[in-house]
Amino acid sequence: SDTLKSLPSHHFQDFYTLKELPESHAWKPVDDDLCPFGHHDMVAEQVPVVDLSDPTAERLIEHACRTWGVFQIINHGIPTRLLDDIESACQRLFSLPMHRKLRAAREPDGTAGYGPAVISSFFPKKLWSEGFTIFGSPLEHARQLWPNDYMKFCDIIGEYKKEMKQLAQKLTWLMLSPLGITQEDVKWAGPEGEFEGASAALQLNSYPTCPDPNRAMGLAAHTDSTLITILFQNNIAGLQVLREGFGWVTVSPIPRGLTINVGDMLHIMSNGLYPSVLHRATVNLTRHRLSVAYLFGPPWEAHVSPISKVVDSDHPPLYRAVTLREYREMRAEHFDKALSLVRLRA
Ligand code: SIN
Ligand code: FE2
Repeated sequence: SDTLKSLPSHHFQDFYTLKELPESHAWKPVDDDLCPFGHHDMVAEQVPVVDLSDPTAERLIEHACRTWGVFQIINHGIPTRLLDDIESACQRLFSLPMHRKLRAAREPDGTAGYGPAVISSFFPKKLWSEGFTIFGSPLEHARQLWPNDYMKFCDIIGEYKKEMKQLAQKLTWLMLSPLGITQEDVKWAGPEGEFEGASAALQLNSYPTCPDPNRAMGLAAHTDSTLITILFQNNIAGLQVLREGFGWVTVSPIPRGLTINVGDMLHIMSNGLYPSVLHRATVNLTRHRLSVAYLFGPPWEAHVSPISKVVDSDHPPLYRAVTLREYREMRAEHFDKALSLVRLRA
């Protein structure tokens, strides 16, 4: 069609029609320098699972954040029906024909809409995934995708974002309070622990079945530039996290469980006590994996720096103050060097 012709042909890949892995998408050997175990995780270690209804949850979360930078939660209070709905909404979106998805394509310099992962430009090989990014309301894009039936998608997204925001605030305090950090220490926190003007985005990810999964990469290794990320996955394994000294560990899906990542902003606020977690997504021969990431951050213009409670003469601040806006700009240019660019001491 005309739409397809006017776009660079390599930019939007229709994975569903490919019978074999194109050379442009062949990653082998996968990250040999980072990962002695290749794609196969031979690590017996498991990412911690925290029952949020357990009175000791806070201590378990603190330990997980200090050691892993990631944990799974159960009994988190998000309605099962809503998780089913968001999964169906993803399925419905990504199973649209390519020409229809392209009506909601992300503009070359835009932030929202349908397209390849934004980080793909930093890697020599293409990723085996497609995504849909939502900032604010998805209404305009949803209208393009489903001209006669767009409200259902918008309603689900709206409800999901609302629930995620509540959960993200609760989790952020569960993570900060073991470090002695309270509302008085966080400039953009209100009296009820609400984060005024917090930045938030929803990233829907689709990893179509892949004819050669061991040589393909769904999403290349990265940290999130968030405070925290809440990830829902559709019961199909694929997310891997790097555990220092062990290697890549697969986050085994728990039905209706959610995975919480420490992002770079929390890394900075905690002065590195909670390191942001390096993670990636692998792909699968027979099963179409879907995931939904809620990206929760500080207000765009708020100055984020190590909180004074975790800094003293023995523990000098390791990072300078930075706004999320500044940080995102650094990341757009230098990608995985951004954290080291705001570091004060080597
Ligand atoms: C992400 O890192 O944003 C998503 C990873 C996943 O799909 O598991
Ligand atoms: Fe991520």
